[in-house]
Amino acid sequence: MSDQPSSGRRPLIPSQIASWLGAISLAAAALIATGYAYTLVRRAPDALTDRRKAQQNLRAETNKKELALLTEPSRNADGTYRIPLKDAQALIVKDPQVIAKIQAGGAPAAPAVAAAYVAGPFVVADAEQMKRGAAVYARTCIACHQPTGKGLPPVFPSISETPIVVGNPELPIKFITNGLMGPITVGGMTFNSMMPPVAGVSDQDIADVLTYVRQSFGNKGNPVTVDQVKAVRAANAARTAMWNTAELGLK
Ligand code: HEC
Repeated sequence: MSDQPSSGRRPLIPSQIASWLGAISLAAAALIATGYAYTLVRRAPDALTDRRKAQQNLRAETNKKELALLTEPSRNADGTYRIPLKDAQALIVKDPQVIAKIQAGGAPAAPAVAAAYVAGPFVVADAEQMKRGAAVYARTCIACHQPTGKGLPPVFPSISETPIVVGNPELPIKFITNGLMGPITVGGMTFNSMMPPVAGVSDQDIADVLTYVRQSFGNKGNPVTVDQVKAVRAANAARTAMWNTAELGLK
């Protein structure tokens, strides 16, 4: 009789505990699984948003730096630009349109070029030639004439909206090949410095860079061909001295 209640209860208790334990652990497992699944589902879009935001921030930061490099902090008192050569080269090589873009937003707008500068009907330069020309400019002219083409007066004259740049290409071809010295008035300011001969440029490079310059910085001059460059160089092949502004009729 003393065995009966105990033998009747004994199998009951463990099985009850077992079933409770089973239910509890099942519930716990379900809870953990649900929680884990939830964090996975939540974390995935969060990580994506975070990465996008970081990329956007980086891009905005880069744009800001590039613009700052070419606008206010790098501006001289007279409105010309002073930026590290390697930065300017990198910017222009990366994006040949950078100057036009920067001029469009923030920098003083270039006034329209007088129609008298344009010889013959205006021809828009080939995009590939402009791209090559921008690269030659970044390599050979930018240090003195600056990314804006406005130069660094009173030492380096502007090549933006100056008659020589958009006129007969014979003169700039001569300057590039042999250099230029002597007094010359550009944009109302008289310069008396020296442009050394530009080394390491082919006939094609000269045609490309002059085409680029003639259709940038507010200039509107027709493209220059390799044949034009060849003809001017051939006609002056014997010359080794620099050109003097007086002998070219420039003042
Ligand atoms: C080392 C500096 C320097 C470099 C590099 C240089 N120039 Fe010049 N450039 C000058 C100076 C200085 C003058 C004015 C010379 C004088 O006073 O007689 C000048 C004058 C000119 C002129 C005539 C004046 C004017 O403003 O219209 C043109 C055009 C010109 N350069 C184009 C170029 C081109 C294109 C390149 C690159 C292929 C180039 N220069 C490279 C310093 C430079």
